[in-house]
Amino acid sequence: MLRGKTAIITGAGRGIGRAIALQFATYGAKVVLNYRNSLSQVEELLQTIKNAGGEAIAIKADISKEDEAKNLIVEAVKEFKTLDILVNNAGINRDNLLIRMSEEEFNSVIDINLKGTFFCMKHAAQVMLKQRFGKIINISSIVGIAGNMGQANYAASKAGVIGMTKSAARELSSRGITVNAVAPGFIETDMTDALPDRIKEASIATIPLGRFGSAEEVAGAVSFLASESANYITGQVLQVDGGMVM
Ligand code: NAI
Repeated sequence: MLRGKTAIITGAGRGIGRAIALQFATYGAKVVLNYRNSLSQVEELLQTIKNAGGEAIAIKADISKEDEAKNLIVEAVKEFKTLDILVNNAGINRDNLLIRMSEEEFNSVIDINLKGTFFCMKHAAQVMLKQRFGKIINISSIVGIAGNMGQANYAASKAGVIGMTKSAARELSSRGITVNAVAPGFIETDMTDALPDRIKEASIATIPLGRFGSAEEVAGAVSFLASESANYITGQVLQVDGGMVM
């Protein structure tokens, strides 16, 4: 499905990013695993991919810093010569009620989720424009569509990602580049593990499919958008949320 393609996945060390990297490698892509701090997680993932006969390298970069985001793209292209797929997955949350939210809490989420995605798209697009081919998939969130209590900063960043996805799709389409977003709902990862049980139970009650999703189920949507089956799809937001928002 992705044989011979090269792909960068930001924040690939754990959770949804890890699942995407594993699935891409299984489908035959050469994957670049971006990480910020946790080298041990990424080393384990590199080994898992290599043991299964896949090709992967790891590159350290804090994507909220433009020089590091640029270096990630440059180093990836140096290694694999092309860049076919970029998945902007790295993200954080710093929840607080609006009236208590500090500027630092607001900025840190915007810096990583929104500006980090912008930096990676900007530098990847320069390579993809020359190639006249590329697929960019940005991980947004259902919270960017519907909002959520205590997540004004996160919702703003993820809604921003959707607007940026649509603008980039319009700018880059004439050169064969598609840009789409995936908006997961509640997915079982370290990010949602931290939620109190009462919040988890209340959330499940709002999901028509009656359960949280898995990281692999999000990866399935990303793999589809990265594949040739999605060549005529651009500027779209694919919700992977068990029907929670419709
Ligand atoms: P996670 O916290 O398990 O993984 C996020 C990864 O991003 C970590 O490996 C972290 O080191 C990396 N990262 C954070 N800041 C970075 C930076 N500045 N530079 C490079 N890497 C950085 O989170 P999870 O749950 O796997 O989420 C992945 C993406 O999916 C995020 O963008 C998140 O907002 C989004 N999402 C998650 C949902 C969920 O229910 N888990 C729901 C909707 C969206």
